[in-house]
Amino acid sequence: MTTAPPSLETDLMAMKQAAQTAIAAATTLDQLEQLRISYLGKKGQLSKVLGGMGKLSAAERPRIGALANQVKGLIQDQLEQSKIALEAAQIEAQLAAETLDVTMPGIFQPQGRIHPINSIIDRIVDIFVGLGYTVASGPEIETDYYNFEALNFLPDHPARDMQDTLYLPNGDLMRTHTSNVQIRYMQNHQPPLRTVAIGRCYRRDTVDATHAAVFHQIEFFAVDTDITFTDLRGTIKVFLEALYGDIPVRFRPSYFPFTEPSAEVDVQWQGKWLEILGCGMIDPNVLKAVGYDPEVYSGFAAGLGVERLAMVQHQIDDIRRLYNSDLRFLRQF
Ligand code: DAH
Repeated sequence: MTTAPPSLETDLMAMKQAAQTAIAAATTLDQLEQLRISYLGKKGQLSKVLGGMGKLSAAERPRIGALANQVKGLIQDQLEQSKIALEAAQIEAQLAAETLDVTMPGIFQPQGRIHPINSIIDRIVDIFVGLGYTVASGPEIETDYYNFEALNFLPDHPARDMQDTLYLPNGDLMRTHTSNVQIRYMQNHQPPLRTVAIGRCYRRDTVDATHAAVFHQIEFFAVDTDITFTDLRGTIKVFLEALYGDIPVRFRPSYFPFTEPSAEVDVQWQGKWLEILGCGMIDPNVLKAVGYDPEVYSGFAAGLGVERLAMVQHQIDDIRRLYNSDLRFLRQF
C-alpha cells in the first residue's frame, strides 16, 4: 500500500500548528499582515509545501491538495478573526485615551471684559451716530488758541481759572476740555454739520469723589442755518432717554465763554443732583473765529462728562473706583 510521503502531510500539519500559535500571539495588525505574507503569500510557506506536490502519486495528490486547502482556509479564518479582534481593541484603546473626565477641576481661563468707561463711550457714540452725527477727534496737547482763545476766552478772563489748566514748559497745555475739537473741526468743514468727539481731558483739579485730574469728555455740536435752543434741548432729551430711559433731568442756566445762552444739565445720583454736561448756543464770536457768518449760521454745542455718566448709570459712589483697577470692582460690569 502506497501512502503519501510522510513529510508532506507532516509538514502541512506542522505549518498549521506554527501558524495558529503565531497568529494567536500577534498583538498588532502589522504583525498579522506579516504572518499572512509569510504563510499564505506567493512565496510563503504554504506555497513551498505545495511545491512538493509534484512528487506525489496521482492517487495521493487530491487528498493532500484538499488537506492543503483546508489548512489554508483555517489560517485565513484565524487571520480574519484576529484582525477583527485587534481592530476592535484598537478602537477601544483610542476611545479610552480620548475619554474626558467631566468631574476633573477645570483650567481657569481669565476672561477680559470692557471697562465701564469704554462701554458707555461705545453706547453714547452709537446714539449720536444713530442721530446722523460724524465722529471727530483732536489732540490732547493743545495750544492756548484752540483750547481758549478761539473759544472766546479773553486773555485775562477769569473763566480760564475755572479750568485749572496744566501748562507745558513751551506754553502749550493739556487740553482741559474736548471743546478744542469744535474749533479744529469747524475750521476744516462747512455747515451744515453734526459732529461728536470723544477724548481725554486734563485738569489740575483736587481729586475727590466726583473729580479726577484725567477724565473723558464727549463733545457734540451742530451748525446750520436755523438751529435753535429747542433743537439743543430736544437732542439732550433724546440722548438721555436713549442712555438712561425715563429719569429726572434738570436744566440750569449757566455761563461758558463759548456759548450764549448757556446751560448745565443735572441728573439724580446717590440721592442728589449731579452735573453731567454743559451746553449752549455757540457764541457768535466762536462762529466768527472759524470763518462762519453768525448772521447766516447758528449752532449748539455740549460737553458731557463720561465718568459721571457711567457713575449715574451704575450708581458708582466714587469716580476714583473707575481708575483703581480693582478687579473686584471691574468684574461687576
Ligand atoms: N467745555 C466745557 C467744560 O469742560 C463743557 C461745555 C460746556 C462744552 C458748554 C460745550 C458747551 O460744548 O457748549 O466744562
